[in-house]
Amino acid sequence: MYKIAVIPGDGTGPEVVREGLKVLDAAAQKFGFKYEKATFDFGGERYLKTGETLPENAVHELRKFNAIYLGAIGHPQVKPGILEQGILLKLRFSLDQYINLRPVRLYNEAFCPVKDKKPEDVDFLVVRENSEGLYKGMGEFQEKGTDQEVAIQVSYNTRKGVERCIRYAFEVCRKRAKRKQLTLCGKTNVLTFAWDLWQRVFDEVAGEYPDVKTDYAHVDATTMWFVKNPEWFDVIVTDNMFGDIITDLGAMIQGGMGIAAGGNINPQGVSMFEPIGGSAPKYTGKNVINPLAAICAASMMLDILGEARAATAIEDAVIKVVQTKLTSLGAGKMGYSTAEVGDLVVQNL
Ligand code: IPM
Ligand code: MN
Repeated sequence: MYKIAVIPGDGTGPEVVREGLKVLDAAAQKFGFKYEKATFDFGGERYLKTGETLPENAVHELRKFNAIYLGAIGHPQVKPGILEQGILLKLRFSLDQYINLRPVRLYNEAFCPVKDKKPEDVDFLVVRENSEGLYKGMGEFQEKGTDQEVAIQVSYNTRKGVERCIRYAFEVCRKRAKRKQLTLCGKTNVLTFAWDLWQRVFDEVAGEYPDVKTDYAHVDATTMWFVKNPEWFDVIVTDNMFGDIITDLGAMIQGGMGIAAGGNINPQGVSMFEPIGGSAPKYTGKNVINPLAAICAASMMLDILGEARAATAIEDAVIKVVQTKLTSLGAGKMGYSTAEVGDLVVQNL
């Protein structure tokens, strides 16, 4: 019996989570696992009512679950940063979800904005460090508000933090058994402290994985190759900020935010799964948002929980729906409503 904490969150979060749970229910029936869920109302609405992002005991409560299933965090009436830092980043950090796993996989070439790229050309995995770097929140203002003002934002990289991330990337690369090629994506030519550490640790750990080919690409070149030659990539490991940026581009070449899922992983603890697209306020409540990213996030969750067969079956069902039914992956253009897309996935399971 798995215990799943559900945080539908803001905007279209609740709509896509509903479809994800619909698919999860069907998969549980079919593959014979059981789960119980508890829903938490964390998000913008709750913040506007109570002035609180996360209650005092939230992290403590969430530790009792096997996984967290998250819709979206972000509210048009709340100043940027409050909910992101107070809920999303707070959970990632305090549950030590030090990996952000983001598969980039094109399911139907018709939905790829890059000409002549086929599903076999866009199929890689980004391992984003999820607990340090520029996201650490370290820095300061000096002489704030004056014309001498300086704003400092520190990229904080620990040997231990970098090593556990790189080690995880080598492990998934080996397990994935595709091309067994791991690319370090960084900026060694400019950020000569942080990336010197990353490169050293990468080279050192590589020695333990003689079966994995290693490679290095600067982050700017990486964005170029995502468009020009995405087929060059198998697994990419990178820091928090670069990982954030390149995975939005990754989402685009796989067909858009409507299909892009991510997992915030603590390999020894509670992991959290989410569509990476955000709360999409303008589509809220219209039954037009694409729930497939949330459904794929549910599939990732099952995979990490150890239900590999169910996870693969969900992904296969999604592939079928994307290849044979949908006219687009964009909100309002799918040819079906949010709920109908969820039904289609269930039918194809
Ligand atoms: C993401 C998002 C978050 C991030 C924001 C909402 C804090 O963009 O999950 O990629 O920057 O990590
Ligand atoms: Mn992002």
